[in-house]
Amino acid sequence: MDCYPGIDYFVALCLAIANLDKLNILGITTVAGNQTIEKVTDNTLGLLSFLDSDIKVAKGAKGPLIREKRQAINVHGENGVGDYQFPKIKELYSNNAVTFLRDAILAQEDKVTICPVGPLTNIALLIKTFPEVVDKIELLSIMGGATVGGNTTPTAEFNVWADPEAARIVFDSKIPIVMSGLNVTHSTGLYREDVNELLKSTGKVSRMCGEILNFYFRGDHVKAGTFTPIHDACSIMYLLYPQLYSFKHMDVTVDCSEGLNRGNTVADIREWFNYDETYPKVLLGVDLEKFREILLQNLYKLDDMSK
Ligand code: RIB
Repeated sequence: MDCYPGIDYFVALCLAIANLDKLNILGITTVAGNQTIEKVTDNTLGLLSFLDSDIKVAKGAKGPLIREKRQAINVHGENGVGDYQFPKIKELYSNNAVTFLRDAILAQEDKVTICPVGPLTNIALLIKTFPEVVDKIELLSIMGGATVGGNTTPTAEFNVWADPEAARIVFDSKIPIVMSGLNVTHSTGLYREDVNELLKSTGKVSRMCGEILNFYFRGDHVKAGTFTPIHDACSIMYLLYPQLYSFKHMDVTVDCSEGLNRGNTVADIREWFNYDETYPKVLLGVDLEKFREILLQNLYKLDDMSK
């Protein structure tokens, strides 16, 4: 998993950790995104300590390949995770996400799936520094981009906009990609009532998720205060339950120009064009009822596991 853990990522990580019988998580690499690399790394260690998990953490890129670093404090709060205070007991495993990824991937007999849900800086550096890993990557389940529109600019989604050159390298790499863009993640989340239920819980994990998600409802990106997307959980949910999603393979190119479209994932949504499976699988729709049910069940399941 490659991430800058903001609120939705924490929920995504809980979903993953509740499913360690299905997912063998080799490690988490961090990347600067909503906050500095130090804060996002501390937040990752904090959550893992909170969950009593021994997953390895490696610190990654401090900023994008070329552009100046921007943060998203308004969405995730001053401390990067809805101002929730986590303990930081767990130690960092490595100071170098790129060599960590190479070593972890090459040590496996089987191919490895990476789930990048932040700016794609670490993954681009990995591809360019150690191209020998490319053939050992089964899939990149990416949260980023959108078939149309954006959230950070009218045409760009935050993770891709934050490092368009890195995203271009990744989308051009020919590694199989599943793209969870805003077009699907904006319909992939929980209702206000779901979060209210989590807030009432006496279980430590579900209650924590309720508290950090509650912070999201302050954001003006949340539809009329009744529903919040949980973007990053989409990429993990896809790995666990791909049958919840509809999709189409299409060409996706990242706009790296300096104009209004910088960071736009230009997806060929023309209906009469058919691309084969070597092109990114772009998620288009989700069974929201099942998504909510499975997500909530898993958060409550973690309560039982962490007693
Ligand atoms: O644009 C959505 C992305 O940025 C997600 O990864 C989420 O964490 C947000 O900050």
